[in-house]
Amino acid sequence: MKQKIIIIGATSGIGRRMAELYIAKGHRIGITGRRLDLLQQIKQQSPQQVEYECFDVTKNENNDHLEALVKALGGLDLLVISAGIGQPSRELSWPIDKSTIDTNVNGFAEIANWGFNFFARQGHGQLATISSIAAIRGGSHAPAYNASKAFQSNYFEGLAIKARRMKKDITLICIEPGFVDTKMSKGEKKFWLVPVDKAARQIIRGIERKKKKVYISRRWWLIAKLLKWAPYWLLRKMV
Ligand SMILES: NC(=O)c1ccc[n+]([C@@H]2O[C@H](COP(=O)([O-])OP(=O)(O)OC[C@H]3O[C@@H](n4cnc5c(N)ncnc54)[C@H](OP(=O)(O)O)[C@@H]3O)[C@@H](O)[C@H]2O)c1
Repeated sequence: MKQKIIIIGATSGIGRRMAELYIAKGHRIGITGRRLDLLQQIKQQSPQQVEYECFDVTKNENNDHLEALVKALGGLDLLVISAGIGQPSRELSWPIDKSTIDTNVNGFAEIANWGFNFFARQGHGQLATISSIAAIRGGSHAPAYNASKAFQSNYFEGLAIKARRMKKDITLICIEPGFVDTKMSKGEKKFWLVPVDKAARQIIRGIERKKKKVYISRRWWLIAKLLKWAPYWLLRKMV
């Protein structure tokens, strides 16, 4: 069945590849980001299937843009939140921490809140977020990033319980990738780096199977378990 899908943060990286794959499957897609030229480029390639809204998720105008996209698509079945930033903050820079929180916490929460309430009114829908393996424990390289991803994963768990209590057919899918080969992961040498195409395909499969939690790649499941139970003395040598 052809779906109506919105991807927040689809101008590059994981969100863009997911948009391309969904377009290839014949779905109607609403895409967002701050870079208008990239949004126009994707629209030009598949004008009948793509609608876009250009906006910054930190500007507290998310709801208006989301409503406009739903109207243009003629409905909504799946909302994917991929917009996010992550920069090392070794000197504990406030500008870096603040923009991380503004984007990954405030922007994220406003969109997830809108999406959940939209699907609750509609009676069904799927809401997915690209959190991170960093959600599991604190990290010294980018403390605000880890904390922001913990917020996302925790918020989604709360929404999943809420949907069940409300007896609503809303699926909450929390994706926790390790390292994916995008602009965000450039810099230091990363291990188990997953190509963006493979990551996007695994995420789409996880959404189709209505999984609550998806690790990218699957072997990061093991790291997730180790991290979760690692004692503090060991953790502080690792992250
Ligand atoms: N790459 C990894 O190793 C990795 C690992 C774990 C989790 N993740 C998560 O995966 C998600 C996608 O990251 P990626 O690796 O695909 O990075 P990316 O290529 O940098 O993509 C980030 C996307 O978010 C959008 N975005 C960022 N800030 C925004 C803002 N203020 N307003 C609106 N849109 C904004 C960007 O669009 P514009 O620049 O056009 O606004 C872009 O489309 C992020 O949430 C990230 O935390 C990535």
